[in-house]
Amino acid sequence: MKLKKILGLGLSAALALSLFACSGGNAASSEPPADDTPSASEPAGNTDSTPTPEGNEPSGEVINVGFAQVGHESDWRTASTKSAQDVFSEANGYALSFVDCDNDPAAQLDAVRSFIQQGMDYIIIDPIQATGWDTVLTECDEAGIPVIVIDRTVDDSDKYVAWVGSDFKVEGLACGEWLKAYAADKGITEINALVIEGSVGASATIGRTDGFKEIAEREGWNILASQSGDFTEAGGQEVMESYCQSYAGQFNVVICQNDNEAAGAMTAMDQAGIKYGVGGDVILVSFDANRPYVQMVCDGKINANFECNPMAAPTVDEIIKALEKGETPETEVYVSEQWFAAEDNVKTITVNGQEQEVIHVTQDVVDARPY
Ligand code: AHR
Repeated sequence: MKLKKILGLGLSAALALSLFACSGGNAASSEPPADDTPSASEPAGNTDSTPTPEGNEPSGEVINVGFAQVGHESDWRTASTKSAQDVFSEANGYALSFVDCDNDPAAQLDAVRSFIQQGMDYIIIDPIQATGWDTVLTECDEAGIPVIVIDRTVDDSDKYVAWVGSDFKVEGLACGEWLKAYAADKGITEINALVIEGSVGASATIGRTDGFKEIAEREGWNILASQSGDFTEAGGQEVMESYCQSYAGQFNVVICQNDNEAAGAMTAMDQAGIKYGVGGDVILVSFDANRPYVQMVCDGKINANFECNPMAAPTVDEIIKALEKGETPETEVYVSEQWFAAEDNVKTITVNGQEQEVIHVTQDVVDARPY
C-alpha cells in the first residue's frame, strides 16, 4: 500500500497506522505522478554532479515532491530555493516540481492544487500568508498526500504532517534585548524607532513585529512608525524615503525585517545624508544574516543582524525518509539561528529566560557563513 493512500485515511490516524502498515519497508511510489500534465513550473533540473549526502543513496524509486515556494523577493529566498534544489535532486532520488509563487497567495493555492492533480508523493509549502489554508490542506489530506510546511507557519489548519522553520517571535525578542543592552552600554536613554516590516500576513512579519514590540513596550521606547516593505529592496527603499521625509531628525533606530529591506533603507538614508551604523546617528538592525549582509555588519554599516536560517530542506529530507520507512517524524522542528553584531560590547542577551551568545563579526565569521 502506498504511503499516500494510507495517509488518505486522515493524517493523524494514518501516521499511527503507517507505523504498522509500512514498518521496515520503503513505501515510496515507484510510479510516475498520476497526471503527466506539465506543472506551472519547470522541474528544478539539478545536475548529476549534486553531491549525495551520506545516507541518501537513491533506492531506485523516485520520490515526486512539489514545492510551492513563496517567490524570489530576497537573498534569503534564493538561498532557500537553492537548498531545496540541492537536496531534492535526481541524484538524491527525487523529482522536484518547483513553483515560484511570486508572493501571490492565490497562485500558491493553485500550485498546491496542481501538485494534487499530478499525484505528487509529498507537497512542501512555504506559506506566503499564515491563514487561508484549511480548505486546500483538507484536499491534500483527502488525496492522501503528506504536506510538509517550511519556514513560515500555517496558523489556521493542522492538516500537515510536519513543520520546519524559525521562531520569528524569538528573533524579534532577541533584536529588542540586544538593542536594550547596546543602548545601555552607549548611554542612549531614548529610543525612537522606525520599523520596516516584511510582507503583510506572513508569520515572519507577525512574529518579528510582536517580539520587538513586546520589548519596546516593556522598555517604554517610541515606535514612530511600522510599515511593510514587502521583504524587498525596492520596498525598503520606498518606505525609508518616506520615513526620511516624515521623521527627519526624529529617529535614532531603524529596524528592517530582512536584509534586502536594509539595503533599500541604506540607499534612502545615503540619499538623505543620514549616517547609520557604527559611529553613525542611526542604529541599523536587520534580520536574515545572509553572507553579504553579515559582511556589512563586519564593515560597520549594519549594527546587528538576527539570523533566519533558510536551510530547512535537509530536515525535510529526513522527515520524508522517516515517513517512507513508516516511522513517525518530528512534527515541529526549529532550525538553529545565531545573532551577529558589529561591536563586541554586548556579548550575551537573555531571551525567554535563556542566555544566548551575540557573535562579534570578524572577517572569519563572514567567511564561514554557509549562505
Ligand atoms: O520567511 C522568511 C522571510 O522571508 C525572510 O526573512 C525574508 O528575507 C524572506 O523573504
